[in-house]
Amino acid sequence: MNSIKKHIPEIIALTGALFIIAFFIWAFSQHGTIGLFRVNGFFNTVFIIFAIFGLILLGLGLLYLWIKIRKNTTGVKWFSVLIIVISIPAIIIPPVAFSVLGGIFSPEYIDTPPQLLLTGDTGGYGIPDMAVYFTTADAVSGSTMTWGDANNSLTMTEDVKTREHLFIMNDLKPDARYHYRVNDEQIAYFSTPSIDGQLRFAIASDAHYGSPNSRNDLTEKMLYEIAAPDNGFDMFFFLGDLVEYGFNNNEWDEAFRSLNTATSIIPTRYAPGNHDTLFCGLDSYLNYCAPEGLDTKTESRLWYRIDAGNVHFLVLDLEWSAEAYTKAQAEWFEQQLKDIPEDDWTIILSHGFYYASGIYAFGWEWYDNAETINSITPLFNEYNVDLVCSGHAHNVELLKENGITYAVCGAFGCLPDPGRTYTSPASIWYTDNQSALLDIAIAGDQCSLTFRDPDFEALYTITFDKNK
Ligand SMILES: [Fe+2]
Ligand SMILES: [Fe+2]
Repeated sequence: MNSIKKHIPEIIALTGALFIIAFFIWAFSQHGTIGLFRVNGFFNTVFIIFAIFGLILLGLGLLYLWIKIRKNTTGVKWFSVLIIVISIPAIIIPPVAFSVLGGIFSPEYIDTPPQLLLTGDTGGYGIPDMAVYFTTADAVSGSTMTWGDANNSLTMTEDVKTREHLFIMNDLKPDARYHYRVNDEQIAYFSTPSIDGQLRFAIASDAHYGSPNSRNDLTEKMLYEIAAPDNGFDMFFFLGDLVEYGFNNNEWDEAFRSLNTATSIIPTRYAPGNHDTLFCGLDSYLNYCAPEGLDTKTESRLWYRIDAGNVHFLVLDLEWSAEAYTKAQAEWFEQQLKDIPEDDWTIILSHGFYYASGIYAFGWEWYDNAETINSITPLFNEYNVDLVCSGHAHNVELLKENGITYAVCGAFGCLPDPGRTYTSPASIWYTDNQSALLDIAIAGDQCSLTFRDPDFEALYTITFDKNK
């Protein structure tokens, strides 16, 4: 016992160093941490300081041990007190950080209201199959979903105990009205898109629910406009950063309760944002936004394709910069581009942007992203992509490069970025300090794209022809 007692200073120092090393191993094994480290100057500095602190502790612990063995002493008192005091943060901070970032204090699953989701499969009538999806905090069996049109209805019953409740509606007819009902909840009505070359869809990104700086009231106004039958949206794509910290399930809870206005009746899909998937946020993103079984044709749940008649959406996983653009994703992406007929519309959606105006902040250029431009846009040019929409930059901008239209609209109620200090040569129109959504209507070979403010007033409109 006494021999342990006399080694307390070096035991504490080495334990602290070990905690820091273990924390770093865990943190960098999480999805998105490399991007966070590379792009976010604040976290980059914190990580480096903490790593240096860990190395100092390791050195001090070993030095103290060496002195004691070499000199055969019980230690130097002031040195032992110093080691114990500076080791305390290393004993406390890593477990606390792990608990918070690993979601230990957050419920594993939450109850989410039913969402109407687009699947990656096309039904017999040429429009995407759709799904009604919700989650429950506890696994239950026997949930039912009844759906149909004015003439027919079908009830589906789950026979397994699960927390993820996915009901696929196959072979929906275009331009038709349907209803669905989960258990004995209220009936919801929705309309399907047409396949006659007309398609109207809303795009939004960056709501950042959970951030005290977000204007959820503005987000809710825009959700109301997306859901309004008079506005006639066929689909809704949300391009990431739905929540501020994806590892906190309470933020997802707040987001889905609010989003439900639109996502319960407008066929919806998501792209992952860097805030959504941060640390253990990846699991929550997959659980709530990309359940298994939604895209049977893609191996990953982070990127996928939606086909609506002659309009094709390729949704990429770009979170911080190009870190998530893996070889597997690149191969899948090029294969899809090859597969889409030349006369059809090809629309790329992702959280991360390519061309954009912006600022230099914390050591990172938040504008024209050389990594995404160099690694991905050559494919846009080669395969005549028509339109590229993204978020991540918290402002609103329309750009043109090589005849391709780029829209950045990361302004769904989040804190706006400071005004640009760098203007992209591709920029056509830009505004900051403005919440907005994108309203896009395709009619034949023409596309009309409008940025709208929370009152649904047009901020800027551009009409362009399909790339040929
Ligand atoms: Fe964001
Ligand atoms: Fe982002």
